[in-house]
Amino acid sequence: MPQQVRGVIARSAGAAVEVTDITIPEPGPGEVIVRVQACGVCHTDLTYREGGINDEFPFLLGHEAAGVVEQIGDGVRSVDVGDFVVLNWRAVCGRCRACKRGRPQYCFDTFNATQKMTLSDGTELTPALGIGAFAEKTLVHAGQCTKVDPNADPAVVGLLGCGVMAGLGAAVNTGNVSRGDSVAVIGCGGVGDAAIMGARLAGAGTIIAIDRDARKLEWARELGATHTVDASAGDSVAAVRDLTGGFGADVVIDAVGRPETWRQAFYARDLAGTVVLVGVPTPDMTLEMPLVDFFSRGGALKSSWYGDCLPERDFPTLVDLYQQGRLPLDRFVSERIKLDEVEDAFATMHRGEVLRSVVVL
Ligand SMILES: NC(=O)c1ccc[n+]([C@@H]2O[C@H](COP(=O)([O-])OP(=O)(O)OC[C@H]3O[C@@H](n4cnc5c(N)ncnc54)[C@H](O)[C@@H]3O)[C@@H](O)[C@H]2O)c1
Ligand SMILES: [Zn+2]
Ligand SMILES: [Zn+2]
Repeated sequence: MPQQVRGVIARSAGAAVEVTDITIPEPGPGEVIVRVQACGVCHTDLTYREGGINDEFPFLLGHEAAGVVEQIGDGVRSVDVGDFVVLNWRAVCGRCRACKRGRPQYCFDTFNATQKMTLSDGTELTPALGIGAFAEKTLVHAGQCTKVDPNADPAVVGLLGCGVMAGLGAAVNTGNVSRGDSVAVIGCGGVGDAAIMGARLAGAGTIIAIDRDARKLEWARELGATHTVDASAGDSVAAVRDLTGGFGADVVIDAVGRPETWRQAFYARDLAGTVVLVGVPTPDMTLEMPLVDFFSRGGALKSSWYGDCLPERDFPTLVDLYQQGRLPLDRFVSERIKLDEVEDAFATMHRGEVLRSVVVL
């Protein structure tokens, strides 16, 4: 039997989100219904509701979530009813050209639920990142459910489902930050601070946090930044060079995703260093730079999709590190809110007052 639950949808670009009834079909083959316990508010949800990702409205928002498997469809073997899972948007297919070459972190054909959740009038919903977890329950592919220790707090470990994994992985996986590296992170929201935490975990020496908000810089320091730079106070590139013997950082992570921040990342890096773009630009953004600078400065210019993570490999490990007290994931939960407070949470995020607001159900 299809069931009705409450969920947060964005109907059109720029309009405030609303809580409404959504209909979830019986899980089909390979599908799973998860009772959502917690879901973080990521900047990407706001980008969806602004029409910055695509225009497949209405969206069912929310994608950084943890919950309990409530129902499984035919053929599901990887999870069982009652399992505690973190949802992911990288259920690798094992068959695409990336998977076949042994690079499943780039999987080009990840699995999502085949059936659609709908509004009560039958209008099909597009779930954000194939998840849609600002809802009491959601329908996903079984591969989108990663089992983790059920003793962990859903509000905390659900954040691994997107922003925290993206940031941490941008440093550790994509940027390959290693012991003794100098690292600079531009934009210290949930994603950037996770990159800082990842850089610390990987043994980076100098970790420079750059943001234009003083509160963010304070939190970044608590999460492992050794130095902070106020981006509104002047030349961030010069500041990074000053803090790295005049050379620039080995790895610079742009966790904002704008032409001006990427340019800063490019020039704030040492010769042969690495730039990692993890912030998501919008389609209207362009960049013009001297091509010779790309050549003469060498190194690697990379993008990080989801921190190049493999959920089955990374989520349980990171949950273990958190529970051992070696990874302060709980510091990312700034406030716990209700389903009908997501729109307020966007405003709170915009004002820079939180790392993550987390909807708790
Ligand atoms: N690549 C991925 O897989 C992935 C996954 C999740 C989120 N993201 C993206 O990461 C970005 C950050 O997400 P978030 O949730 O941390 O957002 P957020 O809004 O919490 O944080 C952004 C931070 O950047 C700062 N900032 C903005 N403009 C700046 C500038 N010019 N210079 C310095 N600092 C500046 C803000 O003060 C804020 O602290 C977003 O673009 C989001 O869409 C990417
Ligand atoms: Zn694949
Ligand atoms: Zn996200």
